[in-house]
Amino acid sequence: MVDFTLTDEQRAIKEMAHDFAEKEMRPVAAELDKDGGWPQEVLEKSHEVGILTTHVPAEYGGPGMSYFDGVLIEEELGWGCSGIGTSIAANGLASAPVAIGGSEELQKQFFGELVESPKLASFCLTEPDAGSDVSGMKTTATKKGDKYVINGSKCFITNGGYADYFTVYAKTDKDAGHRGISAFLVPKDDTVVVDKKEDKMGQRASNTATITFNETEIPEGNLLGEENHGFKLAMMTLDRTRPGVAAMAVGIARAAFEHASEYSKERVQFGMPIAMNQGVSFLIADMATKIEAARLLVWKSAVMLDQGQRNTLICSHAKRFAADTCMEVTTDAVQVFGGYGYIKEYPVEKLMRDAKLMQLYEGTSQIQRLVIAKEVLMGRGADEATSSNGSAPEKEPATA
Ligand code: CAA
Repeated sequence: MVDFTLTDEQRAIKEMAHDFAEKEMRPVAAELDKDGGWPQEVLEKSHEVGILTTHVPAEYGGPGMSYFDGVLIEEELGWGCSGIGTSIAANGLASAPVAIGGSEELQKQFFGELVESPKLASFCLTEPDAGSDVSGMKTTATKKGDKYVINGSKCFITNGGYADYFTVYAKTDKDAGHRGISAFLVPKDDTVVVDKKEDKMGQRASNTATITFNETEIPEGNLLGEENHGFKLAMMTLDRTRPGVAAMAVGIARAAFEHASEYSKERVQFGMPIAMNQGVSFLIADMATKIEAARLLVWKSAVMLDQGQRNTLICSHAKRFAADTCMEVTTDAVQVFGGYGYIKEYPVEKLMRDAKLMQLYEGTSQIQRLVIAKEVLMGRGADEATSSNGSAPEKEPATA
């Protein structure tokens, strides 16, 4: 039987995250958005309540949460403020390659530090000339004795200016395309330079920077997974984190929907609340339907991970649909507010600016469609809902 009812424990997790979003994130969201400020205090509090370390495995001191618990939390973070939410969630993205491919010793040290204090880690995949096309990267890692030496620049790095660790993808074989990429855990030192902080349209409370590695030396034990298997490690990481990004998109959309429906009941024109007009009420109805559908995709994509199933297809469905829903719902929320929606004094214009990033980071909506097309045309990721042959979904490999 399929049951969409949350258990008492899941409800408690969701309420805890909602409470955090309401009391710690929302009150500072507008100010941080205005100045592009850094939410240090909120990050510290998120560490205190365990939200910054939800991804840390139980054996290394983490709370031992499921992926499903994670998406319940991320929806609330998106509802609170996706700029701050992205700063919090970036640790999970940077940590996933370590959890999948790091040695036990490395995991113990790295996760131990994250549990001990509110340290940050950044995921360094994108380069100026290698965004969607990951294998076009130019950063190199050269083996010298028992060390690797990393050289190159990574851009659009979330939390880059504040990170203590970086999970870096670099070419270890320049001529081997995607099969020549390796991943490393790189601690911050003087050779790691923060070049540029981006001035973004939305999610302005998240720090986005260019990071350059200049002859950065790391021990060979900081290699994640096998040499030249970094591309797959990146893809496996994104399979694990895209459900959370999609959940955050649902949270932003839900916030916009709540503001718009409240406003439509209060705003009187032609002698009645504007919600009495079908032109408005149907907008609200469509928002509600899209949010509900997006959440179901998010939940399925997380549950499949918890079941150890390959979720590549469903997490691209979730990321694509939730991000596009988020953009549509926030745009329509501005429409419901009319001219006021375009004014910064009202909350929905921020949500519309924040929403745009959901269609861009962790794989654009176009890249998600590319993945979906490949998966469905190759008959992969098939399950009872999409397959005519009823074959069981392929289990994902345990290591990269
Ligand atoms: N799991 C495991 N292996 C996978 C995989 C998955 N989900 N997807 C692909 N692979 C494997 C394939 O099996 C193939 O293996 P072989 O070498 O054995 O043949 C290999 O990886 C190459 O696969 P493809 O041929 O499908 O690769 P491609 O180059 O055609 O397409 C892509 C890949 C989907 C376009 C990929 O490059 C991609 O996802 N691009 C988007 C990158 C992205 O999301 N960037 C966001 C950066 S992170 C960020 O935004 C964070 C932030 O801080 C804000």
